[in-house]
Amino acid sequence: MYICMCNPFTDKELDSALKNDNVRKRPSDIYKACTGGEKPCCGTCICEIRDRICAHNEETFLLAAE
Ligand code: FES
Repeated sequence: MYICMCNPFTDKELDSALKNDNVRKRPSDIYKACTGGEKPCCGTCICEIRDRICAHNEETFLLAAE
């Protein structure tokens, strides 16, 4: 599924960036990692990126707490 239409990348590429320890978990850093350094155009995809960062952080926190 495509996350961004302006600088197209998929949910798989987003998941890969989230799992990459060298990428900071901020929307702007994730976006750059997924697009090879591009900046968002319309910004429509930023909410989805934020939601996925939150889900990733919750999952990481829960795994660390076990
Ligand atoms: S849909 Fe991602 S910047 Fe427009």
